[in-house]
Amino acid sequence: MSYSFDTIITRENTHCYKYDLRETVFGNANVLPMWVADMDFKIADEIIEDITTAVNHGIYGYTFHYDSVFDSFIRWQQKRHSWSIKKEDVLLFHGVVPSLNMIIQLFTNPGDEIIVQNPVYFPFFQSIEQHSRVVVWNELKKQEGTYTMNLESLKKSISNKTKMLFLCHPHNPVGRAWNKNELEELLAICKQHNILVISDEIHADIMFGKKHIPWASLSEYAAQNSITLTAPSKTFNIAGLNISAIITQNTLLNTTIKNYIKQNHLHGINLLGLTAFESAYTKGETWLEELLQYLTHNIEYIQDSLQNTPLTFTPPEATYLAWINFSALQYSDAEIRNRLIEAGIGLNDGVSFGKGGEGYMRLNFACPLSTLKEGIQRIKKSFSL
Ligand SMILES: Cc1ncc(COP(=O)(O)O)c(C=O)c1O
Repeated sequence: MSYSFDTIITRENTHCYKYDLRETVFGNANVLPMWVADMDFKIADEIIEDITTAVNHGIYGYTFHYDSVFDSFIRWQQKRHSWSIKKEDVLLFHGVVPSLNMIIQLFTNPGDEIIVQNPVYFPFFQSIEQHSRVVVWNELKKQEGTYTMNLESLKKSISNKTKMLFLCHPHNPVGRAWNKNELEELLAICKQHNILVISDEIHADIMFGKKHIPWASLSEYAAQNSITLTAPSKTFNIAGLNISAIITQNTLLNTTIKNYIKQNHLHGINLLGLTAFESAYTKGETWLEELLQYLTHNIEYIQDSLQNTPLTFTPPEATYLAWINFSALQYSDAEIRNRLIEAGIGLNDGVSFGKGGEGYMRLNFACPLSTLKEGIQRIKKSFSL
């Protein structure tokens, strides 16, 4: 490996959520933080070099959305995901969650229903509630440790107020990369009921062995009746640079979003974000391949070390998040959390992802193996395993 993913980098006192908000989140500033979804790895040197060049220029004036940024993204989507898109399909924005919030306000009305498939990344349902829309919970089905969409209950939950579905693709926190069959069945239902699909594909580049199928690549209908949200932030560990992409091939949807961005002067993307975006999608592939190998070993480590314990874990098909089942221990969720914090480890509570998360904790394994080993040891210590 040419990149050193084993290196421990001190992140304390860098104003990062993961380390510097531990006291606020866990009531304990010393827990080993394995929660919020960013990585403890240094980013690709190529991206650092390009950001450094921009910084060294010394002038940081107003910056427009230049062509090479779009070109890098379009090439990446074609090469990695066999997805053909055009420059006019792509809008740049400040993040996937801000995009979700904007889209809710633009394309639904208060009281409209939006489907989520829980347990799911909490801003999905929080953003719906914050804008006085109604969350339709369609809990995922669990079968032999793996999750599938419950399409029967989904069909039953649809009313004439159901306007939108948020697809987490791949799914955080359960780590599923939805397959073609599942996606096509979901598409048939959404088509029948005229439901606009918002496909959050931010984790699409962190895949282990499977190929990501962009929702909008399923058919011309899917492309015309969906909005895809993605970003280089998870893939290349640049979340703090706040840049993402909104893709829709539907001209009306595209123009509505574009006009809203213009009218509200939301188009000013940070120069360093633009620089990193282009650099990542142009020069980051080798780093990503090495990262995926490293993460694969981390998954194997978790699997091996939880064997012969009551804790169960299905290796994720995508994402660097492990969804660990503690329910065999028969503790309440609060007790699980408290014991983990006492033993010095900070994970995300399963219950924060909505119903279906009871008894689970989410562990972020995008860290050096030595950190992961310490984390697993502390988990075991929490329950004397
Ligand atoms: C599914 C999903 N969407 C969006 C985000 C965050 O996106 P952004 O930082 O661009 O708002 C995350 C971060 O964990 C995520 O897991």
